[in-house]
Amino acid sequence: MPAISAQAPGKTILCGEHAVVYGQPAIAIPVTQVQARAVVTANPRGAANQIHIIAPDIQLDDYLENLAESHPIKRLFTSLRHSLNLSHFPAFDLRITSTIPIAGGMGSGAAVSVAVLRAVSQFLGHPMNNEQISSLTFEVEKSYHGTPSGIDNTVITYARPIFFIRGQPFETLHAIHPLTFLIADSGVRSETATVVGDVRQAWKKNPEHYEALFHAIGTLTVQVRRRLERGPTEEIGGFLTANHQLLQELGVSSPELDRLVNAALAAGAQGAKLTGAGRGGNILALVGEDKMASVSQALRDAGAVNLYQTNLMPSHDEVEK
Ligand code: PMV
Repeated sequence: MPAISAQAPGKTILCGEHAVVYGQPAIAIPVTQVQARAVVTANPRGAANQIHIIAPDIQLDDYLENLAESHPIKRLFTSLRHSLNLSHFPAFDLRITSTIPIAGGMGSGAAVSVAVLRAVSQFLGHPMNNEQISSLTFEVEKSYHGTPSGIDNTVITYARPIFFIRGQPFETLHAIHPLTFLIADSGVRSETATVVGDVRQAWKKNPEHYEALFHAIGTLTVQVRRRLERGPTEEIGGFLTANHQLLQELGVSSPELDRLVNAALAAGAQGAKLTGAGRGGNILALVGEDKMASVSQALRDAGAVNLYQTNLMPSHDEVEK
């Protein structure tokens, strides 16, 4: 039997992070330049449940049965077994690799889950559709992120730009003009659950103030959607920068992220903001073709340890739901 492989892209949030946890809309786009990949190879001579996992990026080379119940990969398999109603797994080797930075706000954990579920479910002869993969990935994310909105599993599973409101079916976005974003990694690692938890504490202490901020972010997100779909796209940058200011007020930026945002703007980016949970991870900047080189250089000079470029293309073909 030939090896079965599957992959899933990284993601970035264009606008609306944090507010999306409280019911406001957010926009996310896939970042296809980085991918998680899972390859399953049958082991016909192995005993039942003998699953050998090799994930060099996290220094993992072990059998599934040896992993703690709380290990994300163990949780993923437990959910998969329940979902498919299997009493046991046949023996196989699973190799997981990823070029998505870990804990950098690009959805590395969700992308690994999606790639593994795709490859393993196909190998088992029960290929899951996107809806099943997204909801199972959401379940696993919930078990260690507490209150995820569901935006990460959705954009990564469907690999298309989305307008997302928690608990509602997502909408696919169709931009009228191509847009190019630079994503710059601050090199600072930050845990989404911690930052989301801190925002929750602050919201509990001062709900009116925080709900006003969430609402303002949601309003910006709707404005960005309108400009993406109908133009003028030149106005999008200003909304993104305004979104960064609101994220600063939420308390989720950091000196490193602010430095990157300011450097991108000073070098001619149309707009810039932190993306994802904040405190670390990445910023994104909307950059015209003519400013690409100068903004890239300015971001490196301001401390970016990695740069990724991603494009939002005008039309996006519908894929299987
Ligand atoms: O996974 P991250 O770091 O990109 O953050 C996800 C975005 C949040 O809105 C902060 C949390 C969520 O679940 O939507």
